[in-house]
Amino acid sequence: MIGRLNHVAIVVPDLAAAGAKYRDLLGAEVQPPRDLPDHGVTVVFVALDNTKIELMTPLGEHSPVAKFLTEHPSGGMHHVCFEVPDILSAAERLTAGGARVLGDGKPKTGAHGLPVLFLHPKDFDGTLIELEEVKPALDPA
Ligand code: CO
Repeated sequence: MIGRLNHVAIVVPDLAAAGAKYRDLLGAEVQPPRDLPDHGVTVVFVALDNTKIELMTPLGEHSPVAKFLTEHPSGGMHHVCFEVPDILSAAERLTAGGARVLGDGKPKTGAHGLPVLFLHPKDFDGTLIELEEVKPALDPA
């Protein structure tokens, strides 16, 4: 059911410093920061050949990652995101199998403008999993 690893999200205390490390020490292609007020985070995307790293830091007072940073002051891995071709059927299959979808169980629009949902970390060995609906690509030109 799951396809590609879309991204790994890492919460960081200092986005500029984290981005500089990926660019200067790891030699990665680091994009400029983007505020995502609807999601309560500012993100920097690190583009890799086979996936992305999303460096995130809280934006605003009600950021969903503020508590994570309080508990992990030096930052840490927050979630992994897998692509699925059909998020509603993925949610059905998961809930039928006993896994919990966070929130009201309905997909939301994620940071890339595509439908996403999150699975309860207790059902996946302590790892927060995001599923993102990505339609199979058309033939590359
Ligand atoms: Co994500």
